[in-house]
Amino acid sequence: MIAAFRARSRRSLNVNVFCHQPATGDVSLQSAWLELLRAHFERHGAKPPAELKEIYRSFVADDAMLEALLVEKPRVVSFHFGVPSAERIKALREANIVLLASATNLVEALAAQKAGVHAVVAQGYEAGGHRGVFDADAVDDCLGTLALTRVLVRELAVPVIAAGGIMDGAGIAAALRLGAAAAQLGTAFIACPESAADVGYRKALLSDAAHHTVMTRAISGRPARCLRNRFTDLGAAVSRGQIPAYPIAYDAGKALNAAAKAAGEPGYGAQWAGQGAPLARALPAADLVRRLADELREHE
Ligand SMILES: Cc1cc2nc3c(=O)[nH]c(=O)nc-3n(C[C@H](O)[C@H](O)[C@H](O)COP(=O)(O)O)c2cc1C
Repeated sequence: MIAAFRARSRRSLNVNVFCHQPATGDVSLQSAWLELLRAHFERHGAKPPAELKEIYRSFVADDAMLEALLVEKPRVVSFHFGVPSAERIKALREANIVLLASATNLVEALAAQKAGVHAVVAQGYEAGGHRGVFDADAVDDCLGTLALTRVLVRELAVPVIAAGGIMDGAGIAAALRLGAAAAQLGTAFIACPESAADVGYRKALLSDAAHHTVMTRAISGRPARCLRNRFTDLGAAVSRGQIPAYPIAYDAGKALNAAAKAAGEPGYGAQWAGQGAPLARALPAADLVRRLADELREHE
């Protein structure tokens, strides 16, 4: 992916790596989860997979990934779900790579700062996609972007980047006024033609469904904000102890989505979206960035 990017652009590249604690497989829990999903597979003419795998390796346990980053030297490397060891951070810093980490509360933000990142992303509860919590089983205070950004701006020495629910220039201006050095937007770009979102996801995002997002762990095994759909409804009816760990549950989630989609049902997708989803615009990414810059100037 880095090579494909570089073949098309000489501009800065941010590579994002997941730093979750590697999953410990629990075979009986996984079998029970697949049994629970069986009816959903069968409704779409499919069967659940016989077993589940750890489909993504964590950066904290992947030396080849570190080697690749040290060779390729992207301008920025960002961490989600935690921060890697001091040795890994030191190696990346010595390669002159700018390091960012997501944090959802002050304790995580201080840990990221202490580990040596150059800036912290304050990810509020509004944010679309996976919540960057370091420990998915810890109590979550569900801090919103506004309060979290203010707390981190006051307590951290490194710059804070606000993320969660920011969809336009007015939102970016508000984040900067809170003391953030920058704003990070995710949901705002899903409807861009360049994104990998499929037709069902785009249709849902641009419909009234955008007004309803849910935090669910049923799709991947970690909490993530998603458009309310058949999978989030399924998740609302199970307890968290029934769901295998990330990313093992995601293996089942992806298989169920593929089976349902093949049968014409788009409602089992990982349709990640933040609470700002109704403000999404289907513009080419470059046009959207120009629009955001114009709107920001209007609000400065
Ligand atoms: C479709 C989608 C995919 C995402 N994937 C990632 C990811 O791979 N890594 C990551 O660190 N954050 C990911 N995020 C979270 C974003 O980094 C960011 O925290 C979030 O999009 C900000 O909130 P917003 O969606 O309301 O703009 C994703 C968000 C969305 C909406």
